[in-house]
Amino acid sequence: MVSIIPRDQLKRHMILPAKTETHLLSIEKEFVAKERLNRYNLAPKQKILLYGPPGCGKTLSAERIAWNLGLPLLKVRFDSLLSSYFGESASNLREVFDYCKREPVVLLLDECDFIAKSRVSIHDVGEVPRIVNMLLTLLDEYEAPGLVIATTNLKIALDEALFRRFDDVLEIPIPEISERVRLIEMTLSAMPVSPDVNYQDLANNMDGCSSANVVLTVQRAAKICVMNGSKNINSAHFEQALSEMTKF
Ligand SMILES: Nc1ncnc2c1ncn2[C@@H]1O[C@H](COP(=O)(O)OP(=O)(O)OP(=O)(O)O)[C@@H](O)[C@H]1O
Ligand SMILES: [Mg+2]
Repeated sequence: MVSIIPRDQLKRHMILPAKTETHLLSIEKEFVAKERLNRYNLAPKQKILLYGPPGCGKTLSAERIAWNLGLPLLKVRFDSLLSSYFGESASNLREVFDYCKREPVVLLLDECDFIAKSRVSIHDVGEVPRIVNMLLTLLDEYEAPGLVIATTNLKIALDEALFRRFDDVLEIPIPEISERVRLIEMTLSAMPVSPDVNYQDLANNMDGCSSANVVLTVQRAAKICVMNGSKNINSAHFEQALSEMTKF
C-alpha cells in the first residue's frame, strides 16, 4: 500500500517539452529557495497535481523531483488503499500524512484517478467518497517539510473543491516529434548505432506513441541487435521492433 523508494533508487532521466521542463524546474527551485521565500512570508509550491495520458512520465516526474531535491519518495497506491479493510482506508491515509509531517519526503499519491471524478457520488456510502473527503481535509491541513504530488490519467474534470487545494496543476503531455527524437537518442546512448538509422524517420513512425512506448520499442530493437550478435544497431532491427509493436 505504501512503499518508500530511497533516493539512490529513483529514476531521474527524462525527456520533456521545454515548457514542461521549465515548469518542473520552477517547482524544484522554489522548494530549494524555501527559506528565502519564507523571509518574505511566501511559501514554495508544495501540493502538485500531475495529469496526462498514460506512460508519458507522471510517476517518473515525481521520482525525478524527489531525486533533485535529495528526498526519498513515499509512494501510496490508491488501488490497494481502497481495498483495505472497510473503513480503514481513510485512517490509513491520515497516518501516511502524519508521517510526512515528521519526515521530509516527497509523498506520491499515484494513480488517484478517483480524484478527477466529480464528487457527485459524495453521498454514496463506501470507501471512495470517504477517502475523497479525507484527502480534502488532509490537503487542507498539509503542513510538512516535503512535497505532495498526486497523479491522474484522467483529463481534468476535477472537482473545483479539490482543484483549489493544489498549489500547481501541471500536464505531462504526449511527446511531440522533437521529444521522440530525444527519447530515441537517450535510450540508445550506450549503443553503437549504424549510419543507416535515421532518428527523425523513426520518430515519425512513432507518431502518437507515449514516451514509454518509444523507450520500449527502442529497447526492443536494441535487444534484437544484441541477440543477433550484430556490432551495431541498424534500421532492420528497428523495422522488426516496430512491426512487433503494431501487433499489440
Ligand atoms: N518523459 C519521459 N522521458 C523518459 N522516459 C519516459 C518518459 N515518460 C515515460 N518514460 C518511460 O516510461 C516508463 C513509464 O513512465 P511513467 O510510469 O512515469 O508513466 P505515467 O505517466 O506515470 O503512466 P501511468 O499513467 O500509466 O501511470 C518510465 O519508467 C520511463 O522508462
Ligand atoms: Mg504512473
